[in-house]
Formats: sequence, structure tokens, C-alpha cells
Amino acid sequence: MDNLNLVLTEVLDALHQTLSIQELEQLKSKYIGKSGVITAFMQELKNLPVEEKKEFGAKVNQIKVRFETALNNQKEIILANEIKEKLASETIDVTLAGRSAKSGSLHPVSIALTRMLNIFAGLGFDIADGPEIESDYYNFMALNMPENHPARAMQDTFYTKNSKVLRTHTSPIQVRYAENKTPPIKVIAPGRVYRVDMDATHSPMFHQLEGLWIDKGISLANLKGVIIQFLKLFFAKEDLQIRFRASFFPFTEPSAEVDILSANGKWLEVLGCGMVHPQVLKNMNIDTGVYRGFAFGIGIDRFTMLKYGINDLRLMFENDLDFLTQFKGVNEVSL
Ligand code: DAH
Repeated sequence: MDNLNLVLTEVLDALHQTLSIQELEQLKSKYIGKSGVITAFMQELKNLPVEEKKEFGAKVNQIKVRFETALNNQKEIILANEIKEKLASETIDVTLAGRSAKSGSLHPVSIALTRMLNIFAGLGFDIADGPEIESDYYNFMALNMPENHPARAMQDTFYTKNSKVLRTHTSPIQVRYAENKTPPIKVIAPGRVYRVDMDATHSPMFHQLEGLWIDKGISLANLKGVIIQFLKLFFAKEDLQIRFRASFFPFTEPSAEVDILSANGKWLEVLGCGMVHPQVLKNMNIDTGVYRGFAFGIGIDRFTMLKYGINDLRLMFENDLDFLTQFKGVNEVSL
């Protein structure tokens, strides 16, 4: 019995000095855990003579209850102290200036592309898409570039094992889009294209925007009208100097390349175009006796560089934040 009283004083003392929940847990297991001090008294009970059992048992129980009550009280005190300390140490100075959240921005290529899409939407063009892993047929054959045609050499190609290709231009989308439609067909198709090429002005992946307009009575005049209108709107320059220079593409006849006069007086080549070749129209199942069309292919990255004064194509694919954040706030929508 004396031992019991001693234990009680000792325990209550220890409890009051406890400062953390962790210490409290340790005390709990020291006294009422599986091999705890108070638990041991309980186990001793069975060895006592019957007449002592009652009194001793009641006493042990009483101690256990007092211990548990004191433990819970101390727990509350500790938690309350922790909150007090937190409040004191984590005060917020509400008078400090706020820190603004950093926002991202569109990639310059996306900005230029959005601008192009807006212009062509305004001219009544639909938007189409096509696969980046393309068959030889759509990438070359249907566009009048049969196997061993020298024009294929102009487009160094990534071939896949199953004899497909990473499309070398967006022109295959022309055929995919037109082959099961009847004109009027008026569509643009932007997308990624791939060629085995890499220097300051070439990247193995780049972006093109294809255009196609087929209808009755479409002529070179329509082609010139659309291209001139597009270029003036894109560069926001009503007096932009533009020239059409005779060229060759297997899928157009006649074909032209278009140059614009740059600020330093040099002519820069910006796109290829032409009247859709009759063979390509046939491959699209279009009646060449009734319909004519024109097509064009724009290098989106080239346009982005010209529009925003970027001098190295590789900058656009390096994801350097110092470079990219300069395009924050460029309004791609306003024309
Ligand atoms: N596909 C051509 C290229 O990648 C670009 C092009 C030229 C597309 C003339 C056309 C076109 O639709 O008519 O070099």
C-alpha cells in the first residue's frame, strides 16, 4: 500500500513536468503500458490473500484512474501551449506588400500560330489536322512524288521500321481532307513536321501551316489575293512589299515562292504555293473538268522569327525562361 502511494506521488509529479506529447506517451507506457508499473500492481493482485485483494484492488484502480485523468489534463495543457507558441511565432504581418503569383505565357510559336488561325478564320477557312506518322502514300505518292522522284531528296526523311515516315510537310493533310469531300474545299492545317536537318535555321522538328482552296473558277488571282491579304495582316503592314517568284513543287503547277522585302532591303523567302496539280486533284477524287484549286505551305517558325525579331531558330526549342518570358503579354489576337 505504501508503495502504491509512493508511485502515485511520483507519477503525478512526472506528469506535471511533461512538456511534450511525446514525453507524455512515454510516461503512459511506463506506467500503464503492457509492462508498466501500475500494470504490474494489477498483475500482483492474484498472488494476494483474499482479504487483502479487495482493498488493494480498489486502490490500484483508483491510482490508475487518477493517472489517466492527470494524463488527459496534461495533454490539454501541452496542446494549448503549442497553439499559443505557434500563434506567437507565426504571426503574419498583414501590412506587408503582397507577392504576386507568377503566371506563364504562350510560346512565341503558339502566339504566331494563333495569329495565323485568326486571319484565315476571318477569310473563311476551316481548320484540319492529320497524323504525324504518315504513310508513304500521303506524304509523297499522292502529292505526285513517286518513289525515286528527285523531289523526294529535298526532304530528308525520318523513316520508321514499318515503312511509314514522320511527315516531312503538312501537305499530306490536303489529300486526307479533300479525298472524300466535294468542293468547295477551303481549309488550313497547321502541325509539326520532321526532317533530318539541324543548324541555326533548321531544326529536325518544325511547324508548317498548309492551305488549300478548291472550287469552280479558282485561279491564280485568288491565290495572290489570299496570300497578299494574309501577309499584310500577319505583319500588320499595309504597304508590305511582296513578290511572287516562279518555282517548282511536284504537287502544284504553276508553282511560286513568295518573298517579302525586309527592313534592311533584302528579299526574304517566306512561303511556297501554286495551283494544285491535276494529278493531285485526281488523287483527291476531284473532277478536274469542273474544279481548280490552289495550295500553299507556310513555315510557322520562320514567320515567328521574322515577326518577333528572333535570330536563331534553336532558341525556340530550348525552353530558356529568359527567352520565353520576353513574350509575356504579346497580344496574339489583335491584328
Ligand atoms: N510542302 C512544301 C514544303 O514543305 C511547301 C508547300 C509548297 C506547300 C507549295 C504547298 C504548296 O501546299 O502549294 O516545302
